[in-house]
Amino acid sequence: MKAIFVVFLCFAVFAPAVFSFNDYSDCGSQAFSISSIGLSPEKVVREKQFNITVFGALKKDADKVQVGLEIKFNDTVLIDKKSDLCKLVKTCPIKASNISLPISAVLPKNSPAGQYQVRISATNDKNEKIICALVKINLDK
Ligand SMILES: *[C@@H]1O[C@H](CO)[C@@H](O)[C@H](O)[C@H]1NC(C)=O
Ligand SMILES: *[C@@H]1O[C@H](CO)[C@@H](O)[C@H](O)[C@H]1NC(C)=O
Ligand SMILES: *[C@@H]1O[C@H](CO)[C@@H](O)[C@H](O)[C@H]1NC(C)=O
Repeated sequence: MKAIFVVFLCFAVFAPAVFSFNDYSDCGSQAFSISSIGLSPEKVVREKQFNITVFGALKKDADKVQVGLEIKFNDTVLIDKKSDLCKLVKTCPIKASNISLPISAVLPKNSPAGQYQVRISATNDKNEKIICALVKINLDK
């Protein structure tokens, strides 16, 4: 399966019309506390880009940040990508502050209907896991 993966970071916490996951699990570290996770648009559709954004407080500066996105369906990994955030934002180290981490992805045309497990993560220069969040998204027939 082919998938597109883009990642970027903004420091401004903005509030577009997004769906907020009530149900997420925080598999990250003390260095980051999640305030919310949003999905835009509300409904994920095949071949259309969707964004998942993790909002929260970064409690210590982080350098050489690698962002990861893993999407699983029925225990099979469909997307597993890593991206060098510092090369993209060019403002590293990222200072301790409230940040949003938006990640875009696309599910291909032949994606089966059902529930997908999504893991968003970020590591620092010491390869320590800073951010990690697990959410589920549903894809209709
Ligand atoms: C996803 O994020 C990108 C980059 O900011 C933006 O251009 C696009 O409109 C967003 N899509 C949705 C559905 O929010
Ligand atoms: C999930 O995986 C199991 C074991 O590989 C397989 O038997 C089953 O058909 C799969 N279900 C779906 C919905 O793809
Ligand atoms: C981060 O957000 C929290 C809650 O919204 C707020 O209390 C805090 O002052 C913010 N911190 C910074 C550094 O902006």
